[in-house]
Amino acid sequence: MPSAIVTGATGILGREIVKQLGKDPQRWTKVHALSRSKKDELPSNAVHDHLDLTSSAEDMAKQLKGVEAEYVFFAAYLQKNTEQENWEVNGAMIENFLSALEITGVVKKLKRVLLVTGAKQYGLHLGEVKVPMVESDPWVEGEPWPPNFYYRQQKSLHKFCEKHSHVSWVVTYPNDVIGFAKGNFMNLATSVALYAVVTKELGQDLAFPGNEVFYKKFDTYTYSVLHAAFCEWAILEEKCANQAFNVHNGEPETWENMWPRVAARFGMKVKADQFTVPEHELSQKNKLTDNPPLGIRAEELGVKGVVKPSEVANRISLVKWSQDEEVKQAWNRLAEREGLQKDAFEKATWAFLDFVLGRSYDIVQSMSKAREYGWTGYYDTWKSLSDVFGELEANNILPKTHRA
Ligand SMILES: NC(=O)c1ccc[n+]([C@@H]2O[C@H](COP(=O)([O-])OP(=O)(O)OC[C@H]3O[C@@H](n4cnc5c(N)ncnc54)[C@H](OP(=O)(O)O)[C@@H]3O)[C@@H](O)[C@H]2O)c1
Repeated sequence: MPSAIVTGATGILGREIVKQLGKDPQRWTKVHALSRSKKDELPSNAVHDHLDLTSSAEDMAKQLKGVEAEYVFFAAYLQKNTEQENWEVNGAMIENFLSALEITGVVKKLKRVLLVTGAKQYGLHLGEVKVPMVESDPWVEGEPWPPNFYYRQQKSLHKFCEKHSHVSWVVTYPNDVIGFAKGNFMNLATSVALYAVVTKELGQDLAFPGNEVFYKKFDTYTYSVLHAAFCEWAILEEKCANQAFNVHNGEPETWENMWPRVAARFGMKVKADQFTVPEHELSQKNKLTDNPPLGIRAEELGVKGVVKPSEVANRISLVKWSQDEEVKQAWNRLAEREGLQKDAFEKATWAFLDFVLGRSYDIVQSMSKAREYGWTGYYDTWKSLSDVFGELEANNILPKTHRA
């Protein structure tokens, strides 16, 4: 019976992998959940071990004393201010970790390493991409694009597996993750929910803070629970050796379809004239790079001369909104009255949500490859969002009284 190591075990994606492996202690005899902090109760087959991935390989090898497994899930992430810093820090984290496994000798026992990255693989943070995105699409690297730490991580992992030919790799590309985590870097569901309940507390209808174009555009979301099930399947499935996969819920979604449900979920109404009222002082517009990734294949795809730089436009910038005195007071009042975790509001990832809701192009990943390899998982995106809202209520981050 195999054992596993999960790095990033407290993160939005990593904690679900630990929980997924915890469901079947017959299959997974031991799960080493690694991170600096310990936030959750762990399943009976899991133990928490402290690991600082910013340490040198030698230091990490000392921290990893007694930690061994056949399977590694690498889901750690440390957000930095620039792509260059992300490349340096997150690249070094996996490289030193893999070297530490060589120092401790765990590499001899290892069978497969699964690396969690994301849909930034396709450069969608830089502007419009070709849709649907497929795993064989060209990497967006070299001039004029900024470094992408996913590429360094993947190249390092490929090299490690070439050196140790008994070890294979799998990489996942989730997108716009819907899940539960405390104090992490990118958290869509918590931020949407906090925006809604504070808007309700202010006595207002729920206005979509992004823009009218993206309201109708398709996006593919990844429920962290479904992603964890995918990871368990892919790490054990022989056919998946040395393959990268898009992982999302199974169907594209729009906010036009979900926003009224968000409002209804919290006993609110959508602001009917949300796109026709004049924009107020909290709006913002930012141009992304001059070179959207779609341009890479403009000639081949027959779109030469029509690819324009993309922008992120928010009718209400949530970064600005969350700093408004009236908004902060409404949250404090709500948190006090309902006994909520007060720091949840400042820990919400407003800049991330501004980016996610403010784009103007479709973000659709193909699931064809995963399905051809045998994956059959599916989860309704609205249901995943609603499930996470329930988890946030259970954890006193959202008021139970605001549920319709
Ligand atoms: N969240 C999303 O919406 C999303 C979407 C697509 C792709 N992704 C990608 O998914 C991957 C995982 O991200 P995530 O969102 O799950 O991250 P996350 O929720 O922010 O969690 C990060 C994890 O990494 C651990 N970590 C950070 N620094 C560490 C260090 N120095 N030593 C040891 N552990 C450390 C954290 O634990 P401690 O702080 O306790 O150490 C935590 O468990 C990243 O590549 C991310 O880009 C995320």
